[in-house]
Amino acid sequence: MREGYEATGPGAFTPDGCAVELYGRLPVEDEPDVIAGAVPAGGTLLELGCGVGRVTHPLAERGFRVTAVDESPQMLERVRGARTVRSTIEGLDLGETFDGVVLASILVHTGDPVVRRGMLDTCRRHVADGGCVLIQREREGAHENLPRELVHEGGFTIRKLSSEPVGDGVRAVTVEYVFPDAVWTQTYRCRPLTGPEFDRELAAAGLAVDRLLTPDGSWVRAAPV
Ligand SMILES: C[S@@+](CC[C@H](N)C(=O)[O-])C[C@H]1O[C@@H](n2cnc3c(N)ncnc32)[C@H](O)[C@@H]1O
Repeated sequence: MREGYEATGPGAFTPDGCAVELYGRLPVEDEPDVIAGAVPAGGTLLELGCGVGRVTHPLAERGFRVTAVDESPQMLERVRGARTVRSTIEGLDLGETFDGVVLASILVHTGDPVVRRGMLDTCRRHVADGGCVLIQREREGAHENLPRELVHEGGFTIRKLSSEPVGDGVRAVTVEYVFPDAVWTQTYRCRPLTGPEFDRELAAAGLAVDRLLTPDGSWVRAAPV
């Protein structure tokens, strides 16, 4: 596991502490609707950090041609209906472009600034002329009022336990997922970004936000500049 990342619970973990079985259990939320609202029907999508295909599968079912990328082979082997590529996001260079490039799951907030820049360069390198990059960032107040919990109607509880500063604006965030038969915890490194910082990071990769895709501003559509 990467330095600063920790995880407990059953089964295999990714280098950033995601539990493979946990992601196989988490239901999809509004992500496919958000993505489908921003990319022309039937278009090509590059999904970066796809996990087990929680979002990939509904997108493929809607007719998008998805290339799903993850560094974890255990995650990728669960993906169906999409081309899969095992790679780091920051090291990816497929030599092709896509109508939409998706960087979800707040990966843009990774604690390592070099990895973040690499991820955004990958987005830029793979977006077609006239295409877009869809980025999911943290919600406002993500590190406030902790601990707090969300009891999901699917019969499990997600508790965000703590968020502690560890230097250079980076925080160590610990989350617990409680199911009737299993509990997972994950501690990951997260760099909150103000609006201007986020815009600067995108600009350094040759991208700019052209619209917000959700009222809370957590999903944005960016395009090459
Ligand atoms: C929080 S999970 C989310 C998975 C999926 N996007 C979802 O919403 O269900 C993050 C995924 O990104 C992958 N990941 C994280 N950092 C990565 C990197 N630098 N390169 C490739 N994959 C990465 C992990 O292996 C993991 O599968």
